[in-house]
Amino acid sequence: MIVKGQSKKNMQRAVELLKSGELVAFPTETVYGLGANALNSAAVDKIFKLKGRPYEDPLIVHIAGPEHLELIAEPLSQASSVMAHKLMKRFWPGPLTLVFKKKSCVPDNVTGGLDTVAVRVPQKLIALALIRNCDFPLAAPSANRFQSMSPTTALDVEKELGSEVLILDGGSCEVGVESTVLSFDNDHPVILRHGGVTQESLESVLGVKVKVGSKIKMAPGMMEFHYAPRKPLQVFSVGEFELFIKRKSKALESGALLCFSKAEEKRFSKKGFKSVLVLSPRGRLEEAATRLFGALRELDEGKATRIYALEFPDGDLGVALNDRLKKAQHK
Ligand code: TXA
Ligand code: MG
Repeated sequence: MIVKGQSKKNMQRAVELLKSGELVAFPTETVYGLGANALNSAAVDKIFKLKGRPYEDPLIVHIAGPEHLELIAEPLSQASSVMAHKLMKRFWPGPLTLVFKKKSCVPDNVTGGLDTVAVRVPQKLIALALIRNCDFPLAAPSANRFQSMSPTTALDVEKELGSEVLILDGGSCEVGVESTVLSFDNDHPVILRHGGVTQESLESVLGVKVKVGSKIKMAPGMMEFHYAPRKPLQVFSVGEFELFIKRKSKALESGALLCFSKAEEKRFSKKGFKSVLVLSPRGRLEEAATRLFGALRELDEGKATRIYALEFPDGDLGVALNDRLKKAQHK
């Protein structure tokens, strides 16, 4: 059931549900999350059941501020700790998740059996208020069915998970893609999932190169197939798409084209697609990120039978956006 997140009464109801071990969906600045008391393994179990998510996939734990970190995470080494503090100071609250060694109070199902825990401080006020009022951290994955697109509005959540779960409505998510996940590997910062904080901005705060890698294969953000609409989706660079169009001009009529800016629209819109959706006419990656999942949903519900998507310019937020598109692709 969708209720207004700003209302005190609804907030109280959400807190009571969470305290009694139930789930509540809530908005963050990235995507909507499906929250449970992170220290109650029976409550966390309900997340996996409702999402249809495999137990190997670890969840992100949401806290209200860095001062709550020591409740769930062991201290890092001296060198990593210096880096973590720089990052927390600059990006918390915000779309950056950091990986720490976990304390024993964090149940194994939160971390998929790993000895580490991923933690972030969300920026959206409703999310922060919810965590503060609960006085325990919230484990929360994106509030969608396993492998589906992340929800960026309360209505998206209801479409994904049904109307049984309480959904705090806080409008649409400003960032639109999930948080960047970063861990420290032998004191080297490593991006495990690209997201709302770019590699460039991490490097500029840390003053060192940040590697990109993935140690845990089963994590949802790193799975090969994820974030996907039901209709087949194919991703092309502009050059590849030119060639594709030449070969398959007939097939285009049944397809919808998802493109980044006016430039791609101009180039391809006359080719007879069922529909063309432009994410950011002026070519702004932030705007495209905010709209990406909503646009995929819109095309999934529309008349076209397949979706063609054009890659984003590489670099900055384009890296996270291309990652989401590629994982949504049907091979
Ligand atoms: O923006 C976000 O991060 C959203 C909102 C709701 O906060 N949450 C989200 O959660 O995207 P989810 O479950 O869809 O993705 C969890 C990500 C996965 O990519 C997983 O690999 C990583 O967090 N993760 C969780 N625990 C980890 C751990 N112990 N070590 C490494 N990565 C971990
Ligand atoms: Mg997810």
